[in-house]
Amino acid sequence: MKPGKALHRDFGIEIEAIDLSSDAVERAYPKIRELFEIHSLVLFRNQNLDDSAHIRLASLFGPLEDRGDFDQFQVSRVSNQDLGCRPKGVDDAKMNRLNLQSNMLWHTDSTFMPVPALANILHAKVLPSEGGQTEFVSTRAGWRRMNPALRIKIQNKVFLHRYSHSREKVNTQLAQRQIFTKWADTRWRSLWRNPVTGEDGVYIASHAFGVADLPAKEGAYLIETVLDALTQPDAIYSHKWQIGDVLIWDERATLHRGRPWPYEEARTLTSICVSATGADGLYEMRG
Ligand SMILES: [Fe+2]
Repeated sequence: MKPGKALHRDFGIEIEAIDLSSDAVERAYPKIRELFEIHSLVLFRNQNLDDSAHIRLASLFGPLEDRGDFDQFQVSRVSNQDLGCRPKGVDDAKMNRLNLQSNMLWHTDSTFMPVPALANILHAKVLPSEGGQTEFVSTRAGWRRMNPALRIKIQNKVFLHRYSHSREKVNTQLAQRQIFTKWADTRWRSLWRNPVTGEDGVYIASHAFGVADLPAKEGAYLIETVLDALTQPDAIYSHKWQIGDVLIWDERATLHRGRPWPYEEARTLTSICVSATGADGLYEMRG
């Protein structure tokens, strides 16, 4: 394997010359992990991972996230097909579509869970003829560039997160589904310091509904202001998927969102989130 070209001036790198379904992946992992820590987003082209190879790759990064939506762990399918494979609550076409729309809000995955995610490993299987990009920004670069007045407002603050909050923005009925209401609200510090590089990234998401010790309206306004500052057009890397792409991103240091596509065309990506651990800086995040 070898590091390839940068994806964006702020972050992201392509890694070439490795077959992630081969045994080479275990030997290459320390270098992949190093590039992940530094660049926050890594891209591999032309891969072909079945579920077991996908699980093997994800397991190198940490414990697999299981939201308990099925009887046992399974690889998630971000898809407008295979509705029978969707978690209960979004297994009909209307709710699945609304849920995919919620993923088009800027977020980082699983901030609403008692243990949030370190990384998502997303693999393109079926793609539409156009659209369906996934967009990213670096919240480290965003923090470095943020104006001092706004930095002061969020430094040492704690954001409150709730899964149904991001669904509520799209559809009230969707937000009431049990899969979005089953977790208690979470509290995470506004900045996640990477223990390897020492860099801070703003830790925020569409799931954030308030700021501890601030009135509800003021907190909601601050969250919108911060999200807007972090997601200015020139900060965005828009990934145009090719079949076989594998993208791995650092949930501590990025925000992402899906983009629309002609919905009558099939689009399926497989996804595994890996949970953060103490070694990833998790314990310092509890607010
Ligand atoms: Fe996501």
